[in-house]
Amino acid sequence: MKPPREKRRDARPRPNAAGRDRRRSGDAAPSHGLGSAPAATRPNPEAAQAVKPRARRSGTLPAETVPLILEVTPNEDYALLDSGSGEKLERYGPYRIVRPEGQAIWARALPEADWNDVDAIFTGDTDEEGMGRWRFPKAVLGETWPMRHDGIDYLGRFTSFRHVGVFPEQASHWSQMDALIRGAGRQVRVLNLFGYTGIASLVAARAGAEVTHVDASKKAIGWARENQEVARLGDRPIRWICEDAKKFAEREERRGSRYDIVLLDPPAYGRGPKGEVWQLFEDLPDMVDLARSILTDRPLAVVLTAYSIRASFFAIHALMRDSFAGMGGRVESGELVIREKAAGRALSTSLFSRWVGA
Ligand SMILES: C[S@@+](CC[C@H](N)C(=O)[O-])C[C@H]1O[C@@H](n2cnc3c(N)ncnc32)[C@H](O)[C@@H]1O
Repeated sequence: MKPPREKRRDARPRPNAAGRDRRRSGDAAPSHGLGSAPAATRPNPEAAQAVKPRARRSGTLPAETVPLILEVTPNEDYALLDSGSGEKLERYGPYRIVRPEGQAIWARALPEADWNDVDAIFTGDTDEEGMGRWRFPKAVLGETWPMRHDGIDYLGRFTSFRHVGVFPEQASHWSQMDALIRGAGRQVRVLNLFGYTGIASLVAARAGAEVTHVDASKKAIGWARENQEVARLGDRPIRWICEDAKKFAEREERRGSRYDIVLLDPPAYGRGPKGEVWQLFEDLPDMVDLARSILTDRPLAVVLTAYSIRASFFAIHALMRDSFAGMGGRVESGELVIREKAAGRALSTSLFSRWVGA
């Protein structure tokens, strides 16, 4: 039995002093990649001292697996070819792309000639939106190109915040979700919050789930819908919703709308369509609690990924275990990494924590 969710309006900004600073793509660009985060939205460490602690959920904590390192290895759709000197060289479908990578503090393994033989380089040297921040050494490329993940076609995309419309390390979560949906033997409902270009939504829909995809950005929703067509999954039940993720989840809670799987991939800072402010350290505890409240009676998983935050995965692990107290199951936490082809080094991309039902 799930205890009822208490109204918790006292979420406080969490001190974010400990640990490392993981950026989704290695620089100061906002992690959501679709707009800039005003300074006023950043957590105020002094304010963090003042607010009273949240109430805990009661009950036995779920079992735990920690640390768990989930790894993506080179494949025909995507490969991290080499990395080093603050940059990474990747292959996305047909294109070789160079982007900054703050974590690549080691030396490159491949010769200069390989690093020069590329189709696109993120320069970030203008303030303009979109393609202006990319250089195309061989031929000027269009904004999008055909990509594929595990047989699902979609579009790669040169965006102004160096992102390319997909985060390949998330494939570790996608394959687990695919297996959970197919193995459930019943209709599964998936809620993808902060869903971006929708690859996770497409994976879930192909596996047979009914999907609700929520993102604050009209542009991202447009890209995701386009991907649904490109993937030839237009007949699959995906609801595309442009809304603030937290507001939407709160409404679902009130309406009694329930899901078997909830995906949470929030940025460190973001804005809802009506200017609602999302600050991960402040809003995540409520968001995770909400995710628990909108689970069905036979829930399968809640998967949280966090990029660009100064924290250890132990922090989100503790949050998830506390939030799922009394629910049984297991919380697994660690890092999503990409194994590099040239010298076999693992590039850490993000922290994750996921609760999986018993
Ligand atoms: C980095 S993306 C998520 C990536 C995606 N899940 C994937 O793995 O490909 C974060 C997304 O959060 C969205 N976002 C930011 N603030 C939001 C908010 N308050 N409510 C809903 N979505 C928001 C952004 O528009 C962006 O698409």
